[in-house]
Amino acid sequence: MITYKSEREIALMRQAGHIAMLAHEAIRKAIKPGVSTKELDKIAYDVITSHGATPSFLNYNGYPASICASINEVVIHGIPSKKQILKDGDIISIDIGANYKGYHGDCARTWPCGNVKSDRLKLIEVTEQSFFEGLKYARPGNRLSDISCAIETYVKQYHYGVVRDFTGHGVGSHLHEDPAVPNYGVAGEGPILRKGMTLAIEPMINMGTHRVKILSDGWTTVTIDHMPSAHYENSILITDDGYEILTKIKENE
Ligand code: MF3
Ligand code: CO
Repeated sequence: MITYKSEREIALMRQAGHIAMLAHEAIRKAIKPGVSTKELDKIAYDVITSHGATPSFLNYNGYPASICASINEVVIHGIPSKKQILKDGDIISIDIGANYKGYHGDCARTWPCGNVKSDRLKLIEVTEQSFFEGLKYARPGNRLSDISCAIETYVKQYHYGVVRDFTGHGVGSHLHEDPAVPNYGVAGEGPILRKGMTLAIEPMINMGTHRVKILSDGWTTVTIDHMPSAHYENSILITDDGYEILTKIKENE
């Protein structure tokens, strides 16, 4: 069931989204060779809790950390560990959720660590831009799959793999709500977008094949060809005439 949020709920989601992005900003500044993903997890936990929120992912379906930290061929759901140390040339996808007074903000970014090869930087840039290509279709009256189709169409030009086994989702008082938001498909399908819908749009893009597998820890999701992957996510609101991004660093950006 899709829920349409009230002004009160939207205000809480803006706060949640802002807090999650503050945690992203703190992590971005800490990324360098030699840092462990466990240290990054601690940074996010501290930022989120010091702003009166809780990490949305911690204990969600048994997930054991505050963030997902996914290096290189890890697509999503990398579990932070003190044994996982960033090296020069890595790329790392960080996914963060914050729960503020019962409402979630969910956002992901991929960052380069040190000197990163240009093909990896291109993957990061195209993944980010694919989110914004989809966002162009986020307005009342359009269909959900208009967003999905725009993401896939943009990414296909670069011959990257669009992950199909995971999707974006509605977001609100639950981290995952209806509808699922695929990053592929034909336009003109799915629910009609309406004012008050809140969606987490999150392209996961692989340099090689779109195919992924989940490791034996039950979380870590990797590309089957070991090629790198990037992730970009914001939580957004459908407004009267378009969209508002809820996961922003500055409150009036
Ligand atoms: N942003 C991810 C998602 O939207 C993170 C979920 S990780 C989990 O699904 F641990 F919370 F499952
Ligand atoms: Co999400």
